[in-house]
Amino acid sequence: MIHQFDTVIVGSGGAGLYAALEASERSKTAVLSKLYPIRSHTGAAQGGISAALGNVEEDKAEWHAFDTVKGGDYLVDQAAAKILTEEAIQAVYDLENRGLPFNRTPEGKIDQRRFGGHTRNFGEGPVRRACYAADRTGHMILQTLYQQCIKNEVAFFDEFQVVDLIMTDTTCNGVVAVELATGELHLFAAKAVLFATGGFGRMFKITSNAYANTGDGPAVCARKGIPLMDMEFFQFHPTGIMGLGILISEAVRGEGGILRNRDGHRFMEDYSPTLLDLAPRDIVARSMLTEVRAGKGIRGDRKIDDYLHLDATHLGKETLTTKLPDISSFCQTYLGIDPADSPIPVLPTAHYAMGGIPTDVHGRVICDGQGTIVNGLYAAGECACVSVHGANRLGTNSLLDLVVFGRRAGIHIGDYVKQIDMPQVSAADAADAQSWMARLTDGSPGPHGGRISEEMQTLMMEKVGIYRTASEMAAAVDALQALRERYQTVRVQDSGKQFNTDLLEVIELGNLLDLSLITAASALNRQESRGAHSREDFPERDDDRWLKHTLAQLAGDIVRLSDKPVDTSIWEPKPRTY
Ligand code: FUM
Repeated sequence: MIHQFDTVIVGSGGAGLYAALEASERSKTAVLSKLYPIRSHTGAAQGGISAALGNVEEDKAEWHAFDTVKGGDYLVDQAAAKILTEEAIQAVYDLENRGLPFNRTPEGKIDQRRFGGHTRNFGEGPVRRACYAADRTGHMILQTLYQQCIKNEVAFFDEFQVVDLIMTDTTCNGVVAVELATGELHLFAAKAVLFATGGFGRMFKITSNAYANTGDGPAVCARKGIPLMDMEFFQFHPTGIMGLGILISEAVRGEGGILRNRDGHRFMEDYSPTLLDLAPRDIVARSMLTEVRAGKGIRGDRKIDDYLHLDATHLGKETLTTKLPDISSFCQTYLGIDPADSPIPVLPTAHYAMGGIPTDVHGRVICDGQGTIVNGLYAAGECACVSVHGANRLGTNSLLDLVVFGRRAGIHIGDYVKQIDMPQVSAADAADAQSWMARLTDGSPGPHGGRISEEMQTLMMEKVGIYRTASEMAAAVDALQALRERYQTVRVQDSGKQFNTDLLEVIELGNLLDLSLITAASALNRQESRGAHSREDFPERDDDRWLKHTLAQLAGDIVRLSDKPVDTSIWEPKPRTY
């Protein structure tokens, strides 16, 4: 079946819905999502969205921009960070006006809390910058935007899995998608396509990410020859529930929670004397691992189960139940504890991809180091790389990123689609997708993908995790190439057509394998430590050689690497201290 829309948005998280909201004011717009929209992973973002409103203490967009650049270890494109932080203020008020129920100060203003790496006056101390709706901020953003999209009559295609882009040279003409309810392929002709498919934390064994976070947009782009940017930078959030990875919001530390080792010592005093537990995430996650390696972790049932404590017992039941209700209930459900009485066992969890599909500040996808635009193709949110997070994102800047750049992309698309004709697409444009699906479901004997998935996740966790070395990453690249070869023999075991989740998982596995290889190869290539990329064999940041973005292009079973300059037009890179 062939559909025609001016604008097709793939993904229904915050970035996709904000783009859809703007685009639908100006064009006939569809949203394709493999989920029911309000189940998108934006809903799992807990602690807040940052904006220098200055509602509870003095704050400035300039301080926010500086923190973002420094937090990203100077790999941030600084003009983009300026846009992010200046537009943050109106973005939050727009969300409020659209109905988002933020927590309030006693005077009725939007309340703000502390978060890691956000400071007053260029690093003097923590500042209250995160606007929040208890610990359900992302959930509230999603509900607000979805309601507004319904009002704008956006056409939603729920449970459609995108498997290919329709391209001629450097112009995008639409997408090919599988309808999960029927197993049928659909073609969507579009003047503009925006990918907002979220992250790909499912490449790691322990992650805060939902099962759906399999990097579908970046993987489809990579297979079309579009290079992905800065894929070596993957953030580990310091506080995942030990062994499970489920997120315990940084808002717990924002409200005063403290990380402690087996002696009860507040060890962040030793690593970040100014910001303590609210240092940027790369620093806190590394400090935690250093404590565990030094034998200062709390001994779990098995030796590898050492963990640390997030102590929120002094915050009091009132704060926990009113400001952190979901966290309190996660602790009850998954650990059988009440955080008002017992410290929470935590370890870092794979959380956020700083890298992704390279874009300009309007969300237009670029395909080389010179900034060449792919006509009609856009990306926003976690799957994109603008780059406002550089080598390490600050907490609460992701919700901000998807709101600001989702909105900008939607507005740009609205103007762009007025200038061009509807592209012609035909059944032949689905040929590649059709032969891929036919191979996976041809009924010939072949292994299930589950074992390959487990091996990939273990490899990525152990060899491309928080601390990295050349020999381990090289081993990971070799092993991932072998897993990709084995993937060619995988067959879908379920022969049914309707809601064939086996087929969906095999497609997702293919995407994760491609992105894992690109991540490992990019990480092996970067011979320095910067932000979340921490090499034991190259422990220092090396601006002379590596102050540049990585572009990684998938070419068969190898990854071709090139680079792109970083915009350092406002602040000169300096060593980071906190
Ligand atoms: O800790 C958190 O609430 C996560 C927020 C984020 O990743 O921005």
